[in-house]
Amino acid sequence: MAEFMGELRRTAFCGEITDKLGQEVVVMGWTAKRRDLGGLIFADIRDKTGICQAVFDNASFADFAKAERIRSEYVLAVRGVVRARSEETVNPKLPTGTVEILVSELKILSEAETPPFAIEEDSDVNELIRLKYRYLDLRRPDLQRRLFLRHRITSAARHYLEENGFTEIETPFLGKSTPEGARDYLVPSRVHPGQFYALPQSPQLYKQLLMIAGMDRYYQITKCFRDEDLRANRQPEFTQIDMEMSFVEEESDVMTVMEGLIARIFSEAAGIELPRPFRRMTYREAMDRFGSDKPDTRFGLELCNVSDLAEQSGFRVFAEAVKNGGSVRCINAKGFEEKLSRREIDALGDFVKSCRAKGLAWITWSKTEGVKSPITKFLSEDTQKALYERTGFEPGDILFFVADRDEIVFGALGALRLHLGERENLIDKSKFDILWVTDFPLLEYSEEEGRFVAMHHPFTSPKTEDLPLLDTDPGKVRAKAYDLVINGQEAGGGSIRIHSQKIQQKMFRTLGLSDEVVAQKFGYFVNAFRYGTPPHGGLAFGLDRLTMLLTGAESIRDVIAFPKVQTASCLMSEAPNTVDPKQLEELGIDIVKE
Ligand code: AMO
Ligand code: AMP
Repeated sequence: MAEFMGELRRTAFCGEITDKLGQEVVVMGWTAKRRDLGGLIFADIRDKTGICQAVFDNASFADFAKAERIRSEYVLAVRGVVRARSEETVNPKLPTGTVEILVSELKILSEAETPPFAIEEDSDVNELIRLKYRYLDLRRPDLQRRLFLRHRITSAARHYLEENGFTEIETPFLGKSTPEGARDYLVPSRVHPGQFYALPQSPQLYKQLLMIAGMDRYYQITKCFRDEDLRANRQPEFTQIDMEMSFVEEESDVMTVMEGLIARIFSEAAGIELPRPFRRMTYREAMDRFGSDKPDTRFGLELCNVSDLAEQSGFRVFAEAVKNGGSVRCINAKGFEEKLSRREIDALGDFVKSCRAKGLAWITWSKTEGVKSPITKFLSEDTQKALYERTGFEPGDILFFVADRDEIVFGALGALRLHLGERENLIDKSKFDILWVTDFPLLEYSEEEGRFVAMHHPFTSPKTEDLPLLDTDPGKVRAKAYDLVINGQEAGGGSIRIHSQKIQQKMFRTLGLSDEVVAQKFGYFVNAFRYGTPPHGGLAFGLDRLTMLLTGAESIRDVIAFPKVQTASCLMSEAPNTVDPKQLEELGIDIVKE
């Protein structure tokens, strides 16, 4: 039977009783562990601060029969004096391991069924089971620590942003579906049958309208919803620290203020002081050296462009890739020759094929057996010499080549680089590697749609000096856009926005959006620009990703209280799910059976 607390009131947290030696305390929490030694019962009590040991001694504790009923996860309130443990019973693994509570009063506030898994630090229990019983999983100290750190991040962000003149303003969740992003989550309207709201992919349009409204500096810590394929660092609903500022330029204003925010978060939430200013790297350099617009620069294995040498070679795959406007690039895997067998090299070939490359050509240089390769027979002595010089190729190394369209070469070699770096533990995980990637292309050509699409979003401003290229060579236009990359992950991104009506119209036209589509989808937004628009720009950080980075979590699910799995469902609540036919009828929705 569950008891009420009666007169008992908590006077201490479990993790803090070391300071209370000799005093009487009342602690409350869950039974983490219990041992019955006959006349003595030990119970470890857990709350959000830690674990402490309570001792029930048959000789001094009248209610001993009640103590005998205690089981795992029972919720207890105990009163007792904190005493030092004898030397042989000190538990060095527990922060409170030098003391214990000798109990004089016990209330069992709640009994508990045997939980489906043991609740302990770094559990190796299958994640699907843990997610089904997430409220039990969340009792684990490692998950609690991550959520507390997440809270400290938002709290530090609020402090900083308020000090810097930002106002927190909420924007709607029920909005209008706009093209040019990921897939929307739709919400049917009951009042307007056949019509739908879309959940926001980000507050982008609203925050720009707030600048037009004269709010000057806005922020919001808010949910965004995107129906896209999930990955280790993606959730269908995730949280942004979202910001927008008026009368600003990218470098001197937005990036500087945002750097300050990140530095403050690291310092206040995690006690880490970051050197500033953060490093800057252009998109071009990031791609050329690392094959990625979110480069992990904590290790080498950089890419090397050898298109000019490959073009003259007799290897058709290479020569043709260059002739067709693509490139041939390689990685010198320094010292890998002894680490990789032929079979493993072949497996890397399969790996790059999963990144859309057609193959992986290689040259190995064994310290004992010299150079071996299926392709050297196609390369002249001179070409080989030039190649080895350029890549710093030496005995013990392997060169890996991919030839294709740039996009595929970068994708495959960028991924191969990370794969090799992970495999050989080349990444110093104790370091934070922070950099701004700048000068993104404004547009990218979508083969699928046969037109240009916005690389960031259609409201991103082109670089002023690149404006004329919009008419002549849109693919070459650079944007006033920047991403903050931490340890090879995109932690945030933003841009200076277009604030001229004319340029915005031109942008829509370049994207192939007709006047009708623009009027229908963005009408309210475009109209607002007619009434006086300040130059403005902003950025959004992914809160979940920042928390992952600061806690070293491998999965985004480990920093979200109630996350969704790969299939976008919640194993605990079993959302999504069917609804009552009456609900569907009210909405005028018919489900088409497949
Ligand atoms: P963007 O789309 O780059 O920009 O998003 C900003 C940041 O949000 C995080 N993020 C995600 N985190 C978890 N799961 C996801 N599915 C997910 N998608 C994005 C990333 C990313 O850097 N409105 C613009 C910002 C701006 O221009 O001001 C925007 O949403 O960390
Ligand atoms: P093949 O002549 O097709 O047997 O290819 C010889 C070597 O070149 C093999 O190791 C292939 O994996 C590799 N290869 C094939 N296509 C490409 C490509 N597009 N880029 C790099 N290497 C390739």
